[in-house]
Amino acid sequence: MVERVRMTSREERERAIRDAGYNTFLLRSRDVYIDLLTDSGTSAMSDEQWAGMMRGDEAYAGSTNFYHLEDAMRRVYGYRYLVPTHQGRGAEHIISKILIRPGDIIPGNMYFTTTKLHQELAGGKFLDVIIDEAHDPASTHPFKGNVDLDKLESAIRKYGAKKIPYVSMAVSVNMAGGQPISLENLRAVRSLTKAHGIRVILDATRVAENAYFIKRREPGQQKRTIAEIVGEICSLTDGCTMSAKKDCLVNVGGFLALNEEEIYEQASNLCVVYEGLHTYGGLAGRDMEALAIGIGESVEEDHIRARVGQVEYLGKKLAGWGIPIVLPIGGHAVFIDARKVLPRLPQKHFPAQALSAAIYLDSGVRTMERGAVSAGRNRETGKPIWPRLELVRLTLPRRVYTQAHMDVVAESVLAVHESRDQILGLKMVYEPRFLRFFQAKFQPLDS
Ligand code: F0G
Repeated sequence: MVERVRMTSREERERAIRDAGYNTFLLRSRDVYIDLLTDSGTSAMSDEQWAGMMRGDEAYAGSTNFYHLEDAMRRVYGYRYLVPTHQGRGAEHIISKILIRPGDIIPGNMYFTTTKLHQELAGGKFLDVIIDEAHDPASTHPFKGNVDLDKLESAIRKYGAKKIPYVSMAVSVNMAGGQPISLENLRAVRSLTKAHGIRVILDATRVAENAYFIKRREPGQQKRTIAEIVGEICSLTDGCTMSAKKDCLVNVGGFLALNEEEIYEQASNLCVVYEGLHTYGGLAGRDMEALAIGIGESVEEDHIRARVGQVEYLGKKLAGWGIPIVLPIGGHAVFIDARKVLPRLPQKHFPAQALSAAIYLDSGVRTMERGAVSAGRNRETGKPIWPRLELVRLTLPRRVYTQAHMDVVAESVLAVHESRDQILGLKMVYEPRFLRFFQAKFQPLDS
């Protein structure tokens, strides 16, 4: 099957982005030429996965596909219990509700939007304990996703282990630019938290991509398979939330996986309240089958090399032309440093949002803001958060675009970079209460 792409005129794009309030999330996909908004749910399923879709067992309870999914999860990730959910945030909602009490602190290696919101809605407070290098786009540290163990230790000393229900550990840290953690760092986090009786809950969303970087960069890991490394990462944690729409190559789906029976029981009960029966969790049987097959495909060596290799291809091209991007190049996306491209725009004029809109205007390529708009507001004070990273994310769906598409994207970014003096800042004219980046609207400021 092929998906047709549609080219648009400059006039059409001007109208479309104005109607979308200069927010690429509010564009209609028919007005988009090459869609690098996200790698979430946008990957192409394989022939095997499509065949699996035809074997959907749509029984309300105890679907055969659930048991296939449970087997695949145990085989690749190694946890004992599975709670399927409609997507990643469904799992985040459930685990946050179970483990977090009002006033709790949840340390983690940089926030992710939905993960942090669910922790806050459960009464907790997220605390960033990632290494400082992660906040510096130019640092070439090979594992910029790592936890700073001193920061974690002092948080435990300051708040006490009782106030820390778990450490929220991400792989291929999205907001840092798709930056990996090392096995060595995760082992150290594990032993520190173990000594204090604190759990580690993994956000396993892009774990295979992280494993690929470990295999390439971490001493002694070169001969291991991606599957072995993924298995070891998971074995160092007590459970995971998974947005299966990324690594696992499905258009929708997610799960919560756990080792402790008592927490699993609570989770499967909350699943019935918020998602669906615990053997489908908001998914159709056919979705669970595609996911079970996708899990296996996600750890195939050739696939992961080609996937990360394509991101690298785009990143190297941009960097080679002197366009400031986050280094090292991440696993799922290339991130442009909007502060460096638009140094004359203060952060309150949303340079990354403005740059993302400008790229769309130039070519119909859709990207996403990952800066001040995404960071939102402090929930206690209501004050805006101004993150150090002010980025535009060019996110690559898996198995969808060719290298030639990447050339078109790169040329458009170059053209926008060359005419960057004409890009106007933005003011926010509509701000929704939660996760504002999805639905906020903007207007250009006068030059
Ligand atoms: N964790 C990470 C690291 C994610 O990237 C996402 C989603 C989620 C959790 C939430 O999962 O969307 O299935 O509910 N990230 C998408 C993105 C939206 O574009 O990066 P979800």
